[in-house]
Amino acid sequence: MAEEIAVTDMTVDQAREALARLSALLGQANRDYHGADAPTISDAEYDRLKRRNLEIEERFPELKRGDSPTDQVGVSPSEGFGKIAHKVSMLSLGNAFEDQDVADFDERIRKYLGMGNEPLAFTAEPKIDGLSLSIRYENGDMVYAATRGDGSTGEDVTANARTIADIPQSIANAPAVLEVRGEVYMSHTDFEALNVWIAEENERLEAAGKKPKTVFANPRNAAAGSLRQLDAQITRQRPLKFFAYAWGELSEPLADTQMEAISRLQDFGFVINDLTKVCDSTVGLISHYKMIEERRATLGYDIDGVVYKVNDLALQERLGFRSTTPRWAIAHKFPAELAWTRLEAIDIQVGRTGALSPVARLAPVTVGGVVVSNATLHNEDYIAGRDSKGATIREGKDIREGDWVQVYRAGDVIPKVADVDLSKRPDGAVPYAFPELCPVCGSPAVREEGDAVRYCTGGLICAAQAVEKLKHFVARKALDIEGLGAKQIEMFYEDPDLPIKTPADIFTLAVRDGANLTKLANRKGWKDKSVDNLFSAIEDKREIAFARLLFGLGIRHVGETAAKDLALHYLTWEGMSGAAEMARPAALAWRAADLAEEQERVAAQAEGRRAKVKESRDTAMAAHEVSSGAQAVWDDLTGIDGIGAAVGLSLTDAFANERERGEIDRLVGMLTVVPPDAPTQDSPVVGKTVVFTGSLEKMTRAEAKARAESLGAKVSGSVSKKTDLLVAGPGAGSKAKKAADLGIETIDEDGWLALIEGL
Ligand code: IVH
Repeated sequence: MAEEIAVTDMTVDQAREALARLSALLGQANRDYHGADAPTISDAEYDRLKRRNLEIEERFPELKRGDSPTDQVGVSPSEGFGKIAHKVSMLSLGNAFEDQDVADFDERIRKYLGMGNEPLAFTAEPKIDGLSLSIRYENGDMVYAATRGDGSTGEDVTANARTIADIPQSIANAPAVLEVRGEVYMSHTDFEALNVWIAEENERLEAAGKKPKTVFANPRNAAAGSLRQLDAQITRQRPLKFFAYAWGELSEPLADTQMEAISRLQDFGFVINDLTKVCDSTVGLISHYKMIEERRATLGYDIDGVVYKVNDLALQERLGFRSTTPRWAIAHKFPAELAWTRLEAIDIQVGRTGALSPVARLAPVTVGGVVVSNATLHNEDYIAGRDSKGATIREGKDIREGDWVQVYRAGDVIPKVADVDLSKRPDGAVPYAFPELCPVCGSPAVREEGDAVRYCTGGLICAAQAVEKLKHFVARKALDIEGLGAKQIEMFYEDPDLPIKTPADIFTLAVRDGANLTKLANRKGWKDKSVDNLFSAIEDKREIAFARLLFGLGIRHVGETAAKDLALHYLTWEGMSGAAEMARPAALAWRAADLAEEQERVAAQAEGRRAKVKESRDTAMAAHEVSSGAQAVWDDLTGIDGIGAAVGLSLTDAFANERERGEIDRLVGMLTVVPPDAPTQDSPVVGKTVVFTGSLEKMTRAEAKARAESLGAKVSGSVSKKTDLLVAGPGAGSKAKKAADLGIETIDEDGWLALIEGL
């Protein structure tokens, strides 16, 4: 655009004309982007035009058009929001509930950093119960705002964020790149006013025979509903507020400490929480926590705990992250709210792993602003009044249908039953008999020695397991297939013409529908458009991230974090499945050794002697004759930070089970598995296998390992031909010798630090 005029030089007519042209241009770009065709302009150009449009509007507010691109969230309302990939992931926080958890947090950090009792300062600030938002500024101008989403990709809510008064549109003297993060929330007064307005509006709507609007259950829902409004004009009418408490990508550091960094955000024009305080010990943290807890009811907005962060940013950097949470911060939650109600019935749900979970059906009761009518009862021991080790809980009181029970909600998790009031137990109430047959498929439900949970043995013949596995597969954190949720899965599972019985069936759905006489589009509840949307949402997921796919398979113990850790370690699907297969004999030996150890302990206790743990393990292992290759693959698998024998066992089980493996292979054959991004592309140690030996003086072993892994290296415990680098501290012995024999490069701790310096 050669004829582009500087906004400051524009006449009114030129501005009007420019706005009209930009609106058309950006509108077309939006349609191209979201239609089947490829985008016509680059993201950068799109952002630039959008910014230019906004600048003109700011200079000539009276010229702002009704169809202004500023108020459009990048996508037409029918399609939802555009997606934004976070440059730096948006993480969640680990939780502390008791004072002891806070002491443990401090202890863990000291241990990780190799600190003694020297002072360690933290900030403490309220944990705002809203939803997190990341706002990106480039050269001081807001370029976009995104919700957290799944942590790596959020929704583009720029137009809505621009309506929030606490969020500056532009910042003076800001770093070239600045991402400010914090919490969007709604105050109690605004929340009540909004609901009063909705109630009045609904009377009118109902009188006119129209569909009423939702009355929000709590300020958090109201804030989320408003921020995720597709019409920015509606968001504008709903007073949202924002506290800044963190940052994402930065072109230069903000400060040396958390507290200074936050006050710089305040200088930039953000609102920071005035209850943020530096404390120099956990005693200080707890006392600030108590103070905030006392003021909770009068703050005027919802908070659900206090967040503690290591104040020194250099230490934060050293501490780094576990896959989804920082090591340097924790949320100290307030105790859950409690309520009493009637337990009407106990139902059994069969989960995707076959676990039988007892669920309490309750007379509805409000707990912490939310109506609760179901709660978990954990397992049969919990109902009977015992914990997993057989010790009594609730003074041994069991829970029966008809009982008066106390329920609570801790954070976002499913409500739980805490206590029972025996004085209100109805006459004739009988102890609950936990089923020994699966209530869905009738197969025996067995409980293994030492396990708290009873499992249905029906496997895939059990409809409940199959359906739950499928629901898990399509869930948001797994394949996340739009338009294919729990309801649709249940429907397709039972469908005689177009069944989905396994994940692979999802990817043959369109082809099978094409071959059927009765098309999905001709059925009740479906239209051409909705069928098209479903099939294209499925097509979109043919290319799928390794970790999502693995998590989606629903293998026992392989949760989101383990899936990410495994993906990062193996990088390719073939690499992981091959390893799982190869490690199998070693996994079986490990299981046998574990069993032998357990038996030896029991025997030793009975005979009043010391258990010969090592011997019994060794004997069991020897009986298995595991090849050194299989052993090495198993050691490598279970040596991944965060992956233990439990994950290793279920992974190897899944890949060794002929039927399950067949299903997995059939599915994977239809997909393109996308490897994870290597953590740091330009690191000199990426993909290298590093071994640390001897004593390290400037960092602990845990820190060295985590740091190396975050730079893309694999850390192994033993030297082999595959080792690329040995880092040897003083006192290094056999490993250094072996490395020398194998001609492996060996450096000392300082050499290592020099190598990774500045990364
Ligand atoms: S710090 C890397 N500080 O809590 C850690 N989070 O449970 C970044 N939250 O996703 C988060 N108040 O949405 C931080 N003062 C606060 C917070 C806070 C609320 C939310 C945030 C986060 C969630 C984790």
